[in-house]
Amino acid sequence: MVETMKWENGKLILLDQTKLPVSVEWIFCDTYQRVGKAIQKLEVRGAPAIGAAAAFAMVLAWRKIVEKYETKRDAANTSNMQLQTYAAMLYGSHDHAAKKLQQQLLKDFLQARNDLDASRPTAVTLSWATKLMYDAACKMAEAGLNLPQTDAELEKLAVKVYEQDIAKNRKMGDFGAEVVPEEAVILTHCNAGALATCGWGTALGVIRSAHEQGKVKMVYSDETRPLLQGSRLTAWELLEDNIPVTTITDNMAAWSMKTKGINIVITGADRIAANGDTANKIGTYGVALAAKAHGIPFYIAAPASTFDFSLKNGTQIPIEERNANEVRSFQGKVSAPKNVNVFNPAFDVTPARLIAGIITEYGVLRPPFSKSIKELKTKVLRE
Ligand code: MRU
Repeated sequence: MVETMKWENGKLILLDQTKLPVSVEWIFCDTYQRVGKAIQKLEVRGAPAIGAAAAFAMVLAWRKIVEKYETKRDAANTSNMQLQTYAAMLYGSHDHAAKKLQQQLLKDFLQARNDLDASRPTAVTLSWATKLMYDAACKMAEAGLNLPQTDAELEKLAVKVYEQDIAKNRKMGDFGAEVVPEEAVILTHCNAGALATCGWGTALGVIRSAHEQGKVKMVYSDETRPLLQGSRLTAWELLEDNIPVTTITDNMAAWSMKTKGINIVITGADRIAANGDTANKIGTYGVALAAKAHGIPFYIAAPASTFDFSLKNGTQIPIEERNANEVRSFQGKVSAPKNVNVFNPAFDVTPARLIAGIITEYGVLRPPFSKSIKELKTKVLRE
């Protein structure tokens, strides 16, 4: 199965998804800023994948911050005071000077967290991962861990985020396959596959698991204008795995539902509010409406980290708006007057009432979602 990212010798290596399916190219990141740029440009994309990339970016950030203070220490070689401070910090002392330096390191670390969070606002997995890393560093400082220990623990935590994502996707796949009918003709939107995660995928993970059980007759993959994640990525990924796939343009979805025997729709999610309203790639809302009109069940597949329990409903989800030129052109070629007004939201919100179920690693949530999501929250907090 396709690899989205690798962590090797302290560098994050990302598969450049803007180049697929034409070429397979890798980007080597050794600063958190480069990872932030990759997230912004969609070189790495999909909620769980940007979460994991951001966790590794926080390790890179921590290393650069410590390096900066080491350089300062070297420059101030003659200053006993600085040396003492650094030594105290290094060995986890609780003395006043060490504490002060610790606070400075954490302040810089918080800046890195905020910068990364700002790279894409809708997918909550991004800020979920950076918060996890930042909180861990604060706890370690509190517990008096020294710098090498903190470094090692942060790296372990990022690797855990990566590995757990794959494990969660497998679980989602098992739960989700149960709701997929025999002879399934599935429609999906955007790319919620291995490419959008650390492996296996969410919506495509369910499809992979159902395919292993011999249930999948055909997958219809919406092209997903303007950036074509459906035709460039989903179609490529499914073909690589020999899963039958047919690509359609977005405006063919309703007609395909009417004429092609589509009997289930499954998509991923970027953020889910406490009442079940779900933000996902622009166009998902239209697909859900069409599915309702045809009596086809519409499912979301997403890990618990996609839920934003603090939001009452979907009106509170921030929707990213991207550059107008993504709409004014098609694959680098001008396709509209260069001064035409453009509205380019990257996501929309599907109201909970259109959703038949939300497939998570804890099981399939059913309406009323306010209740099932509250129960999910209790389980998550208990862990
Ligand atoms: O803009 P993108 O390509 O990052 O949008 C991705 C999606 O909307 C996915 O469906 C979502 O992140 C779920 S990925 C498992």
